[in-house]
Amino acid sequence: MANFPKKLQRKLEKRKQENALRALPEPQRLIDFSSNDYLGFAKKKEFSIQAANLLEEFDVLKNGASGSRLLTGNHRLYKKLEDFLASYHRSASALVFNSGYDANIGFFSSVPQRGDLVFYDELIHASIRDGIKMGNANAFKFGHNNLEDLKLSIERILNTTDGKSEIYVVTESVFSMDGDSPDLKVFLNFCKEHGYHLIVDEAHATGIMGNGRDLVSGLGIEDGVFARIITFGKALGNHGAAVLGSSTLKKYLVNFARSLIYTTALSPHTLASILSAYQYLELRGINERSKLQENILFFKEKVKVLNLANDFIESDSAIHCMIIPENEKIKQVSKNLQKDGFDVKAIISPTVKKGRERLRFCLHSYNTDKEISGALSSLKNLIG
Ligand SMILES: Cc1ncc(COP(=O)(O)O)c(C=O)c1O
Repeated sequence: MANFPKKLQRKLEKRKQENALRALPEPQRLIDFSSNDYLGFAKKKEFSIQAANLLEEFDVLKNGASGSRLLTGNHRLYKKLEDFLASYHRSASALVFNSGYDANIGFFSSVPQRGDLVFYDELIHASIRDGIKMGNANAFKFGHNNLEDLKLSIERILNTTDGKSEIYVVTESVFSMDGDSPDLKVFLNFCKEHGYHLIVDEAHATGIMGNGRDLVSGLGIEDGVFARIITFGKALGNHGAAVLGSSTLKKYLVNFARSLIYTTALSPHTLASILSAYQYLELRGINERSKLQENILFFKEKVKVLNLANDFIESDSAIHCMIIPENEKIKQVSKNLQKDGFDVKAIISPTVKKGRERLRFCLHSYNTDKEISGALSSLKNLIG
């Protein structure tokens, strides 16, 4: 067998010592409090039938896209989906990427230029951090959802520059590991006042917030936001993502976003499934969204009744996290909940900061009151 480099072996050992070694889990049949399938769309059988009909209708009966979108992969469903997305999410244009990860690395590695400045929320998703690292702009974090800290940070940095930089401010509409949201209207007003470009990752809001669209369009501020990243792997129950913005931004990304250019496009079947999910969302998604909303309220009420609210991060979204510091401890709580039948994941460091390890509940339209009460009672028993 080929040698495994010692340096890499040492890194694995360190992870193990820190109780932070990751491993791929076995598929489980527990009660789901961990997937991103917020509306149950990943399990809807009717979508595959509808997708098959769309493939017939568009006459794109190919298994794979057969090339990059810039070569042979730009099959007819791309235009159909991108036109739909632009209209549904109220944007001038939409550009589909293979995943949210790809959209973010493509965008952030190509849009901010050398000499430009990127200010990002300290809890921003790893894909945005990676994209920024791949680009040439200087980047600075600001305190979570903290506009005052952003202002101070920009002021401090601008004092050291020639004032010619473009400034990009990056946040999420629902934070993936906290479930909370910034005051986007206030952030946008600040950015508009100074000519800064606001970018919002809407991964966990797509299909849920803003009447099943996204938070930015729900707030009616889509015209002022430079770009939004929506994803289809969460509430849409599928795979893929899109950048929403001006048609010039789309043209720019088609020319410079390497994660769009140098990869095989999504298969026609994937695009047909995304379209099917959107068609359902538009016509009947209100049912699942209302149920999800009821479950969120029920969950929050139970947390209060069980006297657990102080340990939970305040959230109105489908993501609810209880801080339980230390990897070993949080892993044990999660394991015990799983023994009781509830799939609630431990989020350990380094995914989150040391001391901010947490139990992460993802709520869904299909969770029952009994399941929610059961999981929280079980948690209460475990932590005393
Ligand atoms: C905020 C945020 N952005 C982007 C992504 C990446 O999206 P995808 O899973 O489609 O690659 C995720 C997924 O974990 C996310 O939570």
